[in-house]
Amino acid sequence: MTPETAQSWGADAARALHRSSDRLRPGGGPQKRKPAHVIAMANQKGGVGKTTTTINLGAALAEQGHRTLLIDVDPQGSLGVGLGIEPHSRDVTIYNLLMQDGASLDDALVETSMDDLHLLPANIDLAAAELLLVQEVAREQALQRIVERLRYRYDFILIDCPPSLGLLTINGLTAADGVIVPLECEYFALRGMSLLMQTLERVRERLNPELALEGIIATMFDGRTIHAKEVLERVRDAFGDAVYETPVTKTIRFAEAPVAGESILTYAPSSRGAEAYRKLAREVVQRESAS
Ligand SMILES: Nc1ncnc2c1ncn2[C@@H]1O[C@H](COP(=O)(O)OP(=O)(O)OP(=O)(O)O)[C@@H](O)[C@H]1O
Ligand SMILES: [Mg+2]
Repeated sequence: MTPETAQSWGADAARALHRSSDRLRPGGGPQKRKPAHVIAMANQKGGVGKTTTTINLGAALAEQGHRTLLIDVDPQGSLGVGLGIEPHSRDVTIYNLLMQDGASLDDALVETSMDDLHLLPANIDLAAAELLLVQEVAREQALQRIVERLRYRYDFILIDCPPSLGLLTINGLTAADGVIVPLECEYFALRGMSLLMQTLERVRERLNPELALEGIIATMFDGRTIHAKEVLERVRDAFGDAVYETPVTKTIRFAEAPVAGESILTYAPSSRGAEAYRKLAREVVQRESAS
């Protein structure tokens, strides 16, 4: 691979944004309760595994004893649906929290069938918020204000962003400490990376100086094809340490589990997919405690 190619994917920017390659967070005297580590799942390409990763990484973190909150900022509402919650029948969702002063956090929070895994659902109402927020003061910080109210209740907060780089995704990135990019193991998927890295740099400069690239998860990896293996190799060459060691293999189980309203961890607990997200959760925790 030529250096120009890696550059055109935003690889240099990704390495600079990757947490381990630059700064450590300041240590803060005697430890009180630690605030949650907040991670946004972002990739403007659709269907790359953002929602699947939010659900299953969240379930794996909860299974490992971390109190975890999942926040949906995608009007498609798939995060709730995938966890067996019908977001369209909820009276209070992330939309109300974003748009109405005084909307109750506790009315919006939903327990899931797993202990330690809570959800702030979204539904189609949120599509209107994207338009209405444009007129607001500090429109990029609306989600951050909600997240700050929740930080001390959880160990991890995962934000599922929509497939665009619009205001909802910018809100997700502004509220987060780190970004996980699910990247489909397919050649064309690499092409959007440069724009995504530019967006992360811009958010870091203008809105959230603490934002780091937490890591890149290779998703939909089909180990039987040479193409997928080559793409994974290129991704590792280009993005180095930013890529998590564990790829998520392609399996139909990921499409089946949301139909049952469950994470793959409970739907197919001993499947390779469940095992992958358990390993990824350990990698995420390790990176977080090393930062
Ligand atoms: N590792 C995988 N193997 C096979 N199918 C997968 C895998 N991960 C996700 N899928 C399936 O691919 C589809 C898209 O996944 P998902 O909804 O998680 O992507 P997304 O990035 O959130 O999409 P959108 O951009 O629309 O929000 C879903 O049908 C999901 O079940
Ligand atoms: Mg999604």
